[in-house]
Amino acid sequence: MDLRGKVVLVTGSSSGIGREAAIQFARKGSIVVVTYCRHRKAGERIRRECLLHGPAELMHLDVRDNRSVSTAVRQVTRRFGRLDILVNNAGVLSVAPLHRQSPRGIIVKAAEEKLGKRSGDDVDIWEYLDESP
Ligand SMILES: NC(=O)c1ccc[n+]([C@@H]2O[C@H](COP(=O)([O-])OP(=O)(O)OC[C@H]3O[C@@H](n4cnc5c(N)ncnc54)[C@H](OP(=O)(O)O)[C@@H]3O)[C@@H](O)[C@H]2O)c1
Repeated sequence: MDLRGKVVLVTGSSSGIGREAAIQFARKGSIVVVTYCRHRKAGERIRRECLLHGPAELMHLDVRDNRSVSTAVRQVTRRFGRLDILVNNAGVLSVAPLHRQSPRGIIVKAAEEKLGKRSGDDVDIWEYLDESP
């Protein structure tokens, strides 16, 4: 597939798999939109790596926040006129094997993410459940 000139947005591209995906798209000649959530400096580094190959932008995007997602998409379409490819990579990993996880543990992890808390913080699961669709 010819990826030259395609406008590609990779969520969670300030590290890991998203970082690699962003750089590979840049190497193939795509216009890459790198996004970060908490680590702007890391995102800037990846954008600079992409710029070695072609145009690249850096944007903040938090997939937990609908407004953040629509703002990023609007910025991309305003800047480049379109969005050709979305790589929705952003996410979090639970490090324990599934058989060692409890339903409560999984809900607490989801609540920490949704409410923007860090592991070990007090999490009000009911607040999370009230907000969940
Ligand atoms: N690595 C694996 O073995 C593996 C296995 C199965 C599935 N996956 C999935 O593959 C994806 C990438 O994994 P990875 O290992 O590359 O993870 P990673 O190195 O921890 O990177 C996660 C990326 O997601 C971003 N991110 C975190 N929370 C976000 C949010 N709320 N909104 C937007 N971006 C957010 C981070 O940005 P900041 O750092 O800027 O916050 C970072 O760029 C994840 O969805 C993960 O669940 C990974």
